[in-house]
Amino acid sequence: MYFTVLTIFPEMFDPFWNYGIIRRAIDQQKIITSAVNIRDYAGGRHQVTDDRPYGGGSGMVMKPEPLAAAIRDATGQQTGAKTVLLTPQGRMFNQAMARELASLGGLILVCGRYEGVDERICHDLIDYEISIGDFVLTGGELAAMVVIDAVARQIPDVLGGEDAAEKDSFSDGLLEHAHYTRPENFEGHKVPRVLLSGHHREIEKWRMESSVMRTLLKRPDLLQNIELNTEQREILAKWRRAIENILDSQVSEI
Ligand code: ADE
Repeated sequence: MYFTVLTIFPEMFDPFWNYGIIRRAIDQQKIITSAVNIRDYAGGRHQVTDDRPYGGGSGMVMKPEPLAAAIRDATGQQTGAKTVLLTPQGRMFNQAMARELASLGGLILVCGRYEGVDERICHDLIDYEISIGDFVLTGGELAAMVVIDAVARQIPDVLGGEDAAEKDSFSDGLLEHAHYTRPENFEGHKVPRVLLSGHHREIEKWRMESSVMRTLLKRPDLLQNIELNTEQREILAKWRRAIENILDSQVSEI
């Protein structure tokens, strides 16, 4: 899959391409990446990419001509790729979107700076507007890295078999189960015994329970949007009975 980033700070991406799973995916040609300087498409001696907003006010706006030229050049080189504008006004990015985008041939990610990009860029040249959260960054570059990272790890064979994406948090709508490694006893906290038992069915049952209960405690909102299977509903019912028993013994007199 192709990832082309359009930015006025292409060097920001050098360390990102150079480490870990992204680096390996590039080396193995599972992904082909480039960061293109929008300034190269700006005319004039100073190659200016921003200008004052019509109507007045503070801040600068990214000029449409260099951006349009950069986007057209990138789409010309990558037929079938979709264009993404990173903006706090976009659709909230999540795992389902990461999976959906990973099925495309390529992405061209447009990073805004300053107050944003000229509105007319969005009309014909942008397929998706994506936000990575309800906060405002100084530019779209970090957001583009977040999107590329999450999308790339969904591409078949980018992750090694040992950390396959199907087991990730959110892949079935739940958070992932708790993880432990050696030592067995860390500062008095022991690894759950079942994980040492070698009993695979019991370990799978424990992991499912851990996953359901962590989701209930840390992100109860996620449980509102998914349909649990029978095993998962039984886990919740069991914990509800346990909690009701505790509550009955503690608060029945009040
Ligand atoms: N650019 C600035 N803030 C952003 C955000 N929250 N998400 C995506 N792009 C942005």
